Amino acid sequence: QELQMNLEQIEKGGYEHFMLKEIFEQPSVIKDTYRGRLLADRGIVRLGGLEDYIEKFINADRIIIVACGTSWHAGLVAEYIFEDLVRIPVEVEYASEFRYRNPIISEKDVVIAISQSGETADTLAAIKLAKSKGAFVYGVCNVVGSTISRETHSGTYTHAGPEIGVASTKAFTTQITVLAMMALRLAKAKGTISQSDFMLYLRELELIPNHVEEALKTDDKIAEISAVFKDARNFLYLGRGYNFPVALEGALKLKEISYIHAEGYPAAEMKHGPIALIDEHMPVVVIAIKSDHYDKVVSNIQEIKARKGKIIAVVSKGDTAVRELADYVMEVPHTPEALSPLVTTIPLQLLSYHIAVMLGRNVDQPRNLAKSVTVE
Ligand code: G6P
Repeated sequence: QELQMNLEQIEKGGYEHFMLKEIFEQPSVIKDTYRGRLLADRGIVRLGGLEDYIEKFINADRIIIVACGTSWHAGLVAEYIFEDLVRIPVEVEYASEFRYRNPIISEKDVVIAISQSGETADTLAAIKLAKSKGAFVYGVCNVVGSTISRETHSGTYTHAGPEIGVASTKAFTTQITVLAMMALRLAKAKGTISQSDFMLYLRELELIPNHVEEALKTDDKIAEISAVFKDARNFLYLGRGYNFPVALEGALKLKEISYIHAEGYPAAEMKHGPIALIDEHMPVVVIAIKSDHYDKVVSNIQEIKARKGKIIAVVSKGDTAVRELADYVMEVPHTPEALSPLVTTIPLQLLSYHIAVMLGRNVDQPRNLAKSVTVE
């Protein structure tokens, strides 16, 4: 018993929980994920599993992404990146819905299956269905040799290392890292990106670990914010564009480990429902970084304020306008919008972590949840 305890202590590397360790590992595992694949100085991004299938991707009628849970959120981020940079239509499907709805799918489709564990039953079944219809299936998995990594035609591993905490953190950011590299490689091959943008993105991607490191330094501040809101019954998370999926992921993290009800919404859609919930008891987490949507997000924040909602905003370093409106801000370094989910997701992971700890929850093994869902 005692030996077991000590072993676990060692595995946690000095952190109180696996989840916290995994959150703090992100700078290094993102680097591990692009190491040897991304050579920004030389203008190279190269993924072993992708090189032989570039034509298949760029000639595809459509890319369909299938996944569950947090991996599905990474898929949503990828939808924005792929459509933006590679100009191929993308659909993102919950694997469980896809497999049961007689989907229209053919040899002209490329399917990307995203799964940390590589064992999720619904995702595996969706892959088998797509293969039976003749589609080419590409895997983005973390666990080497997992069932999904073997069932797919080709793929790229994330190098997140073992993820023990049930709430996924580093798997998510390394999945986005892989998907961003795929999009850049394909955009280059298809000619849908200018050389200068291509070079810019490669360099910016290489800087992400530093930015994540910096975002992690706000941990103490986020713990203070968590103490203020830990007893709220509901949370709303809002984001636009690339950061809409981050809002969904932030809400999922909070639900999973603190058992507080949280909803993620595209910020503009708020007025079609969730705005009715807003009063002085409702914390609203808004991703309000400098981007093309900045002014729109600012007006969303004003709408929330007018209804006395409490605003916790994720802002770009040096921001002033949102800082004046928000009750609390969590700062992140600036990066191009397409890569921003890698950075904006960090404070949301920390917020859910601290709230859950303050509520005395079992952070690493929340009730009713499993790390890997191998039954449908
Ligand atoms: C479970 C886990 C989630 C995970 C989801 C998909 O629900 O608790 O953290 O995102 O399964 O898992 P996968 O291994 O396929 O990414």
